[in-house]
Amino acid sequence: MNLHVPTLIARKRDGDTLDPAEIRKLIDGYTAGEVPDYQMSAFAMAVFFKGMDAVETAALTRAMLESGEVFHHPDGHPPVVDKHSTGGIGDKVSLILAPLVACTGVWIPMVSGRGLGITGGTLDKLESIPGFKVAIPLAEAQAMLAKNGVVMMGQTDRLCPADKKLYALRDVTGTVPSIPLITASIMSKKLAESLDRLVLDVKFGSGAFMKTEAAARLLADSMIAVGKEMGVEVHAVLNPMSEPLGRAVGNSLEVIESLECLEGRGPADLRKLVLDLAEKISPVPRKELEHLLDDGSARRKFDDIVRAHGGDPADLPKLGQIHHAPLIRDFPAPCSGTVAEVDAGWVGQAAVQLGAGRSRASDSIDHAVGFDHLVKCGEHVHQGHPLCRIHARTAVDFEIAESMLEKAIRIEH
Ligand code: URA
Repeated sequence: MNLHVPTLIARKRDGDTLDPAEIRKLIDGYTAGEVPDYQMSAFAMAVFFKGMDAVETAALTRAMLESGEVFHHPDGHPPVVDKHSTGGIGDKVSLILAPLVACTGVWIPMVSGRGLGITGGTLDKLESIPGFKVAIPLAEAQAMLAKNGVVMMGQTDRLCPADKKLYALRDVTGTVPSIPLITASIMSKKLAESLDRLVLDVKFGSGAFMKTEAAARLLADSMIAVGKEMGVEVHAVLNPMSEPLGRAVGNSLEVIESLECLEGRGPADLRKLVLDLAEKISPVPRKELEHLLDDGSARRKFDDIVRAHGGDPADLPKLGQIHHAPLIRDFPAPCSGTVAEVDAGWVGQAAVQLGAGRSRASDSIDHAVGFDHLVKCGEHVHQGHPLCRIHARTAVDFEIAESMLEKAIRIEH
């Protein structure tokens, strides 16, 4: 079949439904460099406005998935599972869920991303552990998976290269927020892990990609439909992201909070979400998962992960000293009352301002800065008592973050 790309773009622009073989050819041509960026941008914009049905979205997902290499699990392997979150402020669930679920006898090959904009990324958080390597070639990742039941890695150049190229293009052409394009992007990377079961944590609210519950539902349904087309069991859980998850935001600060949760402690909302998601993909009941957090099993599995990835578990209790921001100070409550709002969007922006996140994909990040001991909605506070602790590199950063927190936190008398 000869593909005339301008005609294909025009047909999508006019709302036509494309054939899976046409979509496949387009993606193959784009991956091979035969379809230029300008045509692919026009195509992405046409999809943005006209959408794609479930069959087209599944075809796009499959074409992107098959643009590169995929995990091959040996005969007789245990069930292979994973979790994907659309991202939120203070969301460190992967760091806890991966070792926890690996303790239940399934395999979890977790391919994660970096933070962009106000949402943090699992890879950046893991890299606050000295020596922790996230760039793992597939063969090595498969060996780690067979040994420990878990690997936590970044997308390699050879894993879904079509998505890598297209996502970067969408980022600069205003075509990221399209449900079929997001679905194909996320699902192609997850399905390249050759999964049996996937749980999706789809967030909505001020600190999330999807601002409303209705939009989150549409994305969840789209991803479930693609899972069904491709023979993978997909569960979706919708969760609000109006206040940050847990009490810590910022890379090493979130690893420290994750370790607390892995030791059976930590904030209640974080533990609950980990268990809500883990029970959808684990072969054991929630009680057993709770036990694995409380008896140190999940914590020991995290040590195994750190060791396998080139880090030293002995560094984990010292992370606070290793990444010690020059300025660590309380942010006091301006009045007494009940905390009515801790706006995740503002807290995320304040964290980026401190240097914990990126504005552009090429920016470097500061592992030490951020917030901890953050108040939660519904808690009572007294004037002058801390609402959180700010970890900043400079006094100017501290003051900017402070003024953003004033907007983020609302106290009712
Ligand atoms: N995350 C992805 O990997 N792709 C998208 O399109 C959006 C979020």
